[in-house]
Amino acid sequence: MIKKRWKMLILAFIVSCSVILGWGASYGFSSNSIVQNTKSVDKATGNFKIGEDFYLENCATCHIPVPPAVLPQETWQRILENPGNHYGVKVEGLTGFSQRLMWQYLQNYSRQLLKDEIEPKYMAQSRYFFALHPNVTLPSPITLNSCIECHTQAKDFNYRVNFDRN
Ligand code: HEC
Ligand code: HEC
Repeated sequence: MIKKRWKMLILAFIVSCSVILGWGASYGFSSNSIVQNTKSVDKATGNFKIGEDFYLENCATCHIPVPPAVLPQETWQRILENPGNHYGVKVEGLTGFSQRLMWQYLQNYSRQLLKDEIEPKYMAQSRYFFALHPNVTLPSPITLNSCIECHTQAKDFNYRVNFDRN
């Protein structure tokens, strides 16, 4: 009887230790950097990683980071070339160097428009955005603030829908 109690106590101790250690480990990991924590479909690798870093640093301060794949290359290019005229605000602090690296990254993770297609200014006008949402009933209007309704980790650049299962 007593022996059994001890066993239970030891077991409980081990379980609680591993829970605490587990928390510690995951906390340490997630506070390392936003990119390491990224689980987006468009997670950058190799040479594009530094461009992604610049992107998250410069383009996810006023709003959530927009995943590259939802807009065409042409839109990304216009945005990067016109930081002084960004949807009615100014994007400060871009340099030629960071612009170039962000462009390499965004270009690589998005597609070109078809010939004669009009360049969308917003995701709500982008064919690519809708192509990524087949059979999804989307809210109206589609804005930067609506992504989080379904992509609860959009702020961390995670657009996986069932990220727990991955
Ligand atoms: C100073 C704040 C600020 C910064 C920094 C900023 N943005 Fe924006 N961005 C805005 C505002 C404001 C809007 C308009 C939001 C709206 O109309 O719903 C916007 C809209 C957008 C949109 C269109 C969203 C849609 O509804 O389709 C994209 C794409 C975008 N920004 C990308 C970027 C990129 C890329 C960068 C970095 C180069 C960046 N933003 C940096 C403020 C900012
Ligand atoms: C009503 C819920 C809903 C809203 C709102 C929504 N999404 Fe989605 N999104 C989904 C679902 C569901 C999928 C998976 C679709 C599939 O693969 O069939 C998805 C897929 C995606 C993907 C592709 C992910 C992958 O793993 O391939 C991206 C990128 C994405 N959404 C971005 C956005 C952005 C940016 C916004 C905000 C403008 C947004 N979504 C708003 C539900 C939503």
